[in-house]
Amino acid sequence: MKPFRSSVTAGEGILSPVLCLICLIFTLAFYPPAAHAAGEAKTPPEQDWSYEGPFGTYDRAALQRGFQVYKQVCASCHAMEHLHYRNLAEIGYSDEEVKAIASPVPDYGRPG
Ligand code: HEC
Repeated sequence: MKPFRSSVTAGEGILSPVLCLICLIFTLAFYPPAAHAAGEAKTPPEQDWSYEGPFGTYDRAALQRGFQVYKQVCASCHAMEHLHYRNLAEIGYSDEEVKAIASPVPDYGRPG
């Protein structure tokens, strides 16, 4: 393997923090005040998500609908590399439903 060598010389190494500081001072000096910008911006409406808070949970019907779309549309081109059929139980499918979904897969249910 090639040893790592920096192309920056000692002189440039000292200059860059100084340039950085000058840029920072210019940015702070000419940037419009944050309070002024915040006053003009509209506050987005409050949303109530099912997964918020320590007891939040995902909408299982929506998750199952998403899986159905994946299965019918996206799966023809995209594989699910990091998921297993058993993970479908986590979005509310029963063991029988998972087995039925996986039934075209000959190796499903075998250890390993
Ligand atoms: C006809 C085949 C096909 C179908 C069907 C398809 N995709 Fe894709 N998808 C591709 C290809 C090819 C790419 C890569 C495009 C690229 O990188 O230029 C891609 C890229 C993506 C990416 C971007 C991935 C990345 O790493 O940037 C996402 C996200 C994605 N697809 C989601 C979906 C979803 C969600 C569906 C179903 C609603 C879907 N795709 C259906 C072929 C398909």
